[in-house]
Amino acid sequence: MKNPKLYAVSLDLAFKPEESWRLALEEALEPFGAALVSFETDGGKGWHMEVIGEEKPSAAAVKAALKPFAGLTPVIAPVPDKDWLAESRKGLAPLKMGPFFVHGEHDRGKAPKNVIPLEIDAGMAFGTGRHETTSGCVKALLRLAKSHKFKRPLDIGTGTGILAFAAWHLFKVPVTAGDNDKDAVRVARENAAINGLRKAIRIVTSDGYRAKAIRAGGPYDLVTANILANPLISLAPDLARHLARNGRAVLSGLLVAQEKDVIAAHRAVGLELDFRIRQNDWSVLVLKKAARPPAGKK
Ligand SMILES: C[S@@+](CC[C@H](N)C(=O)[O-])C[C@H]1O[C@@H](n2cnc3c(N)ncnc32)[C@H](O)[C@@H]1O
Repeated sequence: MKNPKLYAVSLDLAFKPEESWRLALEEALEPFGAALVSFETDGGKGWHMEVIGEEKPSAAAVKAALKPFAGLTPVIAPVPDKDWLAESRKGLAPLKMGPFFVHGEHDRGKAPKNVIPLEIDAGMAFGTGRHETTSGCVKALLRLAKSHKFKRPLDIGTGTGILAFAAWHLFKVPVTAGDNDKDAVRVARENAAINGLRKAIRIVTSDGYRAKAIRAGGPYDLVTANILANPLISLAPDLARHLARNGRAVLSGLLVAQEKDVIAAHRAVGLELDFRIRQNDWSVLVLKKAARPPAGKK
């Protein structure tokens, strides 16, 4: 499909504008397009502002709008035509994570030898592997795989399905996965089919552990859940209920600063910290359920 012709009104400032002045300038430019970008340049010494739209703005109207900001020289020019799909694909170059080669449709068949290709087309779902919350989980799974042979994995908040697929490849057992977002469930099912895992991964719509298929499929000896700290805390009692004795839970989507609260909520339901993986500000907690109940408890 041919791209529509686009025009940009852009301004390059040789100084970093004061915030209220910058906001006023952005407001003055906004009517001349559909998308505005505004960012510092030259290591913070300058500023670039650009508004892009389908109609070529009149130079007189732009000049009038910028009159209160004396001395600025806006440039009105067509945006060079690009293949935007190709551009966005460039941004999603294949990603190597341990043995996995995570790629999109455009790189199908390009995996080098001796890797496990995972084709992930994110669509409306989260989980290309580029975010620390996902890559941290994959690292945790790889570490666990050195000493564990899990038989019954569950992935809560599966998104694109990436962690469920990784679990299948590492343990070669059927995986259950759930997401409370219908779009994510659709994307995860499509990805499972693309990766030849349609029968291996059962993907259901579920808020936490609520779906019958999830409740009936446990106890699980491995649970992955890359959701935010607060949902993890709310779901702690359910996790404890559905996690098998000596099972492991890989929890992600929390910041290092939130570790304490997440650990405390899980300790309160009998789960202890096994190990953690920190990347930048993000933390992945691997928790375990004791092999035996504490004395006096079942
Ligand atoms: C950060 S994404 C993680 C996706 C993928 N598992 C990954 O690690 O990249 C979180 C996903 O959890 C889902 N989610 C959030 N809260 C949930 C809940 N209470 N129950 C089920 N899914 C949930 C969201 O819809 C989203 O798809």
